[in-house]
Formats: sequence, C-alpha cells, structure tokens
Amino acid sequence: MTDRSAKLTIDDTEIELPILSPTAGPDVLDIRKLYAQAGVFTYDPGYTSTASCDSTITFIDGDKGELLHRGYPIDQLAGKSHYLEVCYLLLYGELPTAAQLEDFENRVTNHTMLHEQMQYFFRGFRRDAHPMAIMTGVVGAMSAFYHDSTDIADPWQREVASLRMIAKMPTIAAWAYKYSIGQPFVYPRNDLDYASNFLRMCFAVPAEEYEVNPILSRAMDRIFTLHADHEQNASTSTVRLASSSGANPFACIAAGIACLWGPAHGGANQACLEMLREIGTPNRIPEYIERAKDKNDPFRLMGFGHRVYKNHDPRATVMKQSADEVLDLLGVEDNPLLQVAKELERKALEDPYFTEKKLFPNVDFYSGIILEAMGFPTSMFTPIFAVSRTVGWISQWKEMIEDPAMKIGRPRQLYLGATTRDYQDIEDR
Ligand code: SDX
Repeated sequence: MTDRSAKLTIDDTEIELPILSPTAGPDVLDIRKLYAQAGVFTYDPGYTSTASCDSTITFIDGDKGELLHRGYPIDQLAGKSHYLEVCYLLLYGELPTAAQLEDFENRVTNHTMLHEQMQYFFRGFRRDAHPMAIMTGVVGAMSAFYHDSTDIADPWQREVASLRMIAKMPTIAAWAYKYSIGQPFVYPRNDLDYASNFLRMCFAVPAEEYEVNPILSRAMDRIFTLHADHEQNASTSTVRLASSSGANPFACIAAGIACLWGPAHGGANQACLEMLREIGTPNRIPEYIERAKDKNDPFRLMGFGHRVYKNHDPRATVMKQSADEVLDLLGVEDNPLLQVAKELERKALEDPYFTEKKLFPNVDFYSGIILEAMGFPTSMFTPIFAVSRTVGWISQWKEMIEDPAMKIGRPRQLYLGATTRDYQDIEDR
C-alpha cells in the first residue's frame, strides 16, 4: 500500500483519496470514503474500471497478454504442470511438494463419487436438457446432500466443500452428458488421473473396456489448466457477490455456472464452433468478417475479443499449439474447421477493424476445435469450462471468506427514474 493520495474537488469541496499500490498492475484509488466525504458515487457500469477486491491469486496484464497464477506464467504451468497441481497452487498459494501433491490428489480422488440419491436429479430433466442447465441444478442441490460442508465459518468445512466441488464436477458434467445421450452413468475410478477419469466417465460404455488415449488425457488436462482461473471475470465476480451474503458454497458455485453459460463468457466456445461450422469453408470468411464489422448486424466473431486482453490471450496461444498437436496426433490435421479457424484468424488480424479495436482470438477460439476432435458435442464445451473454472471460483471464494474485512457486496446506482409522486386512484388516471 502507499501514503500517496489523489485530490478531488467537487464544487467547493476538496477531498483526498488514498492511492493503493499493487505488487503488479495499475494503482487503485481507494474510494471507500467518497460517499461519506463528498456525497457522490462513482459510475462504472460493468465495473470495467473498478477493482472489486484485493487478491493474491491471479494477475492479468491485458496489454502484455500476461496471465500469472500465484506468479507463475500460464504457458509454463500449461507446459510443465498439470491441472491438480495448479488446483493446489490456486487454493494454497504455493506449488506443492511431492508429498503434498500426492496427499491432495488422493483426497480429490476419494471425493469424486456423487451421493447415489443425486442421480435422480438428472433423471428429472428432459433428455434434451442442455448440460449446463443440469449442472446448474445439480450443483445447487449439493447443499441438500452435503450439509456437513456448508458452514462457511468452519475452516474444515470450507476445505471439505472445496475438495468436494473440485472432485465432483467432472462426475456431474460426465453424467449430464451420458444422460443427454441416453447412456448409463459411468462411475469414477480411483486408479485414473483427473482428466483420464473424466474422459472415461464420458466415453466408456458397459459393453467394452475403455482405454484412455494418453494424447487425449494430456490435451484434456491442458484444457483444464488453461481455464482454471482468470481474475475477477463475470462468473468469478458472481461467485464472490453471492458468497458475500454468506450463502453456502454449492449455491455460490451454481450461480457462477449460470453466469458462465452466457455466450459473451464461457458459452463462447460453443458459439465459436457453431460459427465456424456455419461459415463452413474459407471462401465464406470475408462475408462473416463484414457482418462482424457491421454495426447494424448483431453478429460478432465468437472467440474473438476480450474485456481485458488487448494484445493477445496467452491461453489462446497455448491452445492453438495444442490444437495442432492433438489433431495431428489424431490424424485429423486437415480438419476443415481448423482450416477455417486459422484462415479466419489470419484474415481478421489483417483487417484494421480488428487490429485497431485490439480484437484477437481468446481462449475460446481454438478450444472447441480440440474438444470436437476429442469426441465432445458442442453442448459439452461450456460444462468442461465450468469443470475447470470451479477451482478458480472456489479459490476466490476461499480468499474472500477468509478475509476478516469481508462484508456483503452492495453496489449503488445512478437513478434516472421518477422522483416522488402521489398514488392516483384508478378512476383518476
Ligand atoms: C471469456 O473476463 C474474462 O476473463 C472472461 C474469460 C475468462 O477466462 O473468464 O476470459 C472467458 O469469457 C472470453 C471471452 C469470450 N467471449 C467471446 O468470444 C464473445 C465474442 N466477444 C465479444 O462479445 C467481446 O469481445 C467481449 C464480450 C469478449 C468483450 O467485450 P468488450 O471488451 O466489452 O468489448 P466491447 O463489447 O466494448 O466491444 C468493443 C468494440 C465494439 O465496437 P465499437 O462499439 O467500439 O464500435 O469491439 C467490437 C464491439 O462491437 N467487438 C467485436 C467483437 N468484440 C468486440 N466486433 C466483432 N467481433 C467481436 N468478437
């Protein structure tokens, strides 16, 4: 922090606002006393210029295209680490020793089963329900089953709830998928790693043994790692705001899942692949680029642009490399969607509209291509994002709950409605 301050003069009132300095990134203006001292609010719809909290978990530099988890660059974590080790890092702040990692992986593995009664939640949905609708409902219902980990004031219950969420999300996502295709649920196994377990629960059938392809499980694990956390994005902010009321962690994660579903956020990977399929062939790309530039056309290039990254999304870079590797190893290197995606990226990045507005591929641009090559339907893309982001939501939730200064979030407004007026009886209207 710092003893620097900013002076603000409003009419004949002058006040000083402290300037707080971070370990990285821009300084922030502490406006907590602004309303008391000057009787005014700040105005920032969408909070794009507002620091809603302080945090030590993830740092993003949008201009440099930098993403750090507890200080470690995402490309190093994606290349050298694996998802459960990144989960440990996000939750506890440091990379684990071998013993710590083994203990953590064992604890997660032993929480992957769902209460047997929960499967009846799935059966209450129509078979064509979107898996995100099922996940929102089932995760919200977890508080009805895991009462022994809903007291957020108890550190042990917070720890158990965290592990349960991280461990059970793959099972919930896989069962939502199995239910949608009319296949029996596949139970998790304790002899498989996190990504392999998820792939087996999605693709195994009782009629035959399922052999996990190590290429696919490595790619799955890398996708999980790349989506794990991302500072105060919309769904994480939703989880923080819901948690600030003291709501139980399962309800708060369900709120995050609901927010992530939107096509401007986590739903973009599904929307992006559907867009690539609609474009179909490289010769139709110019038509869609023109539509994306047309203010009168609501069409946008899905998987392009980012509220924070204005140079490049470092996750997209890693994802693009992974797409090349996975499709090549799977022998689908001439995948038409990948060709359209690469040509679309090339043409968009030659167009001043995109370069001047600093619109570049984001994490969702290439992830769908890999997921489709792995055998997932587009409806499973956002659920996979939700599985991965659960550790980010939980880590940010934990950080907030453990902050003694935490209080309920309560934004204000710029009111433009009617001022006080008297009720009119209906015969006088
Ligand atoms: C994620 O916040 C996070 O960290 C999210 C995330 C995470 O890990 O949690 O990174 C995950 O959500 C990635 C983003 C996925 N969404 C998409 O790919 C959907 C398509 N992208 C756009 O909807 C948009 O780029 C946003 C929502 C991502 C960002 O919107 P911004 O920064 O608020 O940009 P904007 O809407 O203010 O647009 C700025 C300008 C506008 O033109 P002008 O009004 O200035 O003339 O750029 C244009 C927009 O029309 N624009 C686009 C565009 N994105 C912005 N034009 C065409 N295609 C696009 N994709």
